[in-house]
Amino acid sequence: MKDTALITGASSGIGYALAKVFAFHRYNLILVSRNAEKLNELASMLKAQYGISVEIIIEDLSKAGAANRIFEKVVNMKLTVDVLINNAGVGVVGFFHETELIRDIEMIQLNISTLTEMTKLFSREMVRRGKGKILNVGSTGAFAPGPFIAVYYATKAYVLSFSRAISKELKQYGVTVTALCPGAVKTNFCKTAGKRDMPGAMEASVVAEAAYRGLLKNKKIIIPGILNKILVRLPQGLVSTINFKNQRKLAVKKS
Ligand SMILES: NC(=O)c1ccc[n+]([C@@H]2O[C@H](COP(=O)([O-])OP(=O)(O)OC[C@H]3O[C@@H](n4cnc5c(N)ncnc54)[C@H](OP(=O)(O)O)[C@@H]3O)[C@@H](O)[C@H]2O)c1
Repeated sequence: MKDTALITGASSGIGYALAKVFAFHRYNLILVSRNAEKLNELASMLKAQYGISVEIIIEDLSKAGAANRIFEKVVNMKLTVDVLINNAGVGVVGFFHETELIRDIEMIQLNISTLTEMTKLFSREMVRRGKGKILNVGSTGAFAPGPFIAVYYATKAYVLSFSRAISKELKQYGVTVTALCPGAVKTNFCKTAGKRDMPGAMEASVVAEAAYRGLLKNKKIIIPGILNKILVRLPQGLVSTINFKNQRKLAVKKS
């Protein structure tokens, strides 16, 4: 039996690249996002290319109850999730007092609450089976405060802290938890967050390959790219100042 990986946010960027990597390694897939057209297109391509089975689940993960609905659908499909990848996430850039509160709340629901609920529901099943892998997508932004992108960085600090903590709890049950913490990656992220593209961004395919290798090695934290590895080791105060200067430049000016 092939293992099954569930990937949230598989319609673009890092999630799309992860779907291709896991398909290449012959995992069956469950792909989740809001975009049925893109997921159907990707599913058809991967099924034809690799002879795997691919299910899609259309769900808005910024809405309460999304994780429960996904879990129910997986149960109804009679599928087992061997690898859970909580990748879907968004950012919001700008002065905290100017950005819309609803966008912060939806971001917290998506980046924190749904990720936590998905982990709770699927880790229970993994513990029962004595086997499973969880990959939570954080960011290098998890390691220091991010002025002008404050709530997003704080959500990623949560993802990192949460993942590190439960990796210690779940190890004894045969379940591994890994936090993937990329720096800038060439995806739709900047456009959605409302900022200019970041210089020196990595290709999503390179990040996905690093994530796959790290996950198989049961790494607790994966930081793709040498510069990012150095960045997260610098003193937090210094990084926060660098973040302040960079994000201020990248924030799209309000007219
Ligand atoms: N790009 C970077 O520089 C960077 C750096 C560090 C960490 N990350 C993290 O990497 C992860 C993936 O982002 P990306 O860079 O690949 O960005 P992306 O290209 O914008 O992809 C985001 C994915 O998340 C899904 N998504 C967003 N909101 C959703 C919602 N409400 N419900 C369901 N799915 C939703 C999108 O699907 P639909 O729109 O089709 O629903 C899409 O598949 C995020 O957690 C992000 O924080 C990105």
